[in-house]
Amino acid sequence: MKYFDFAATTPVDKRVFEAMKPYYEEDFFNASGLYTGGKKTSAAVADAREKVMNALNVKEGRLIFTSGGTEADNLAIIGTACRSESSRKAIAISAIEHHAILESAESLKKYGFEIRILPVDCKGKIVLEKYKELVNEDVLLVSVMTANNEIGIIHDIKELCAYAHEKGAIFHTDAVQAFPCLEPEPENSVVDMISVSSHKIYGPKGCGALWLRDESLVTALMHGGQQEDGYRGGTENVPAIAGFGKACELLVSERTERAQSCERKRKRLLDILLKEEGENILVNTDLDHSVPGILNVAFKDAEAEGMLFFLSRDGFSLSMGSACNSKSVEPSHVVRAINVPEEYARGCVRASFGNGNTDEDIDALGEALIRIYRKMKV
Ligand SMILES: Cc1ncc(COP(=O)(O)O)c(C=O)c1O
Repeated sequence: MKYFDFAATTPVDKRVFEAMKPYYEEDFFNASGLYTGGKKTSAAVADAREKVMNALNVKEGRLIFTSGGTEADNLAIIGTACRSESSRKAIAISAIEHHAILESAESLKKYGFEIRILPVDCKGKIVLEKYKELVNEDVLLVSVMTANNEIGIIHDIKELCAYAHEKGAIFHTDAVQAFPCLEPEPENSVVDMISVSSHKIYGPKGCGALWLRDESLVTALMHGGQQEDGYRGGTENVPAIAGFGKACELLVSERTERAQSCERKRKRLLDILLKEEGENILVNTDLDHSVPGILNVAFKDAEAEGMLFFLSRDGFSLSMGSACNSKSVEPSHVVRAINVPEEYARGCVRASFGNGNTDEDIDALGEALIRIYRKMKV
């Protein structure tokens, strides 16, 4: 199998797996235990917390371990809305957020919150004029992802956050897709909340985190024991948390190299596609302002779903957009938001790159994509 869906998930790195193993076996203890074993596992959680914060380039604030990016996003949006005693009742989110943000925000409508959708241009960039119109003194919280999962666009978080703060709003960013390749700048700490996920960086699934500049911004959604100082009840998943920590440690030392390698692979594939079918391909990814691991291209008069079926039969794994949309034949909300012309909208394919993709695999993928497209074009 030739895997080109690293934005959906990554395999667990062997070194991460080794770091997790003891916590399934000899060090299986509940981190709340007051005996030596419990102290050992709670120290492992503390060590992982430090490693995640280091990878995020934040020194202060609180990091809450969650079951993944989805829970971190829910905690940021719903946890802030529930905590706030402010008269502000609007939440502004970009039109191309992940469903974890879209649906969290949507769920607040029935509690009297107004959801404002921040439009993007054809490259996926926030339309600044509209942003400034919509983010005003009624807005409690702004959430804009650092990088998008379908097309890879990187937003200017520093600028967007500064404006939101000027208006007195809280600012959250979903950095799940940016984390694997973008070196977080120290100014990341200007944002109030950051969501990340472990399984996008060669860590285990079912683990993620929300970082908060100020812990008083959110209230717990998961009630139970006093784990995470009451911010998230439930026995800690120590093996996963330790694995996430190890994955972050590796990320810090390998991030630049991984990003450069992805960039090279993306260029190699795109060169093949444009050389063969340039006039029938629309590149949805803004190559100069995107995470290097994602390439989204639209084939004219094609059905991506059918193409992916034949690609899968030939041993290639890639997706139409986000994994969550891959069961739907309708163009995704991202494809709609960036206004992909109708004749291209159903032919959007996302290839995402990572460790282990060889040049030969990429050449084979390019050849298969072109062959299948030519066969299937209506
Ligand atoms: C941008 C973004 N946010 C959130 C998530 C959800 O993360 P998780 O799968 O860890 O729940 C994803 C997963 O694809 C994502 O790409």
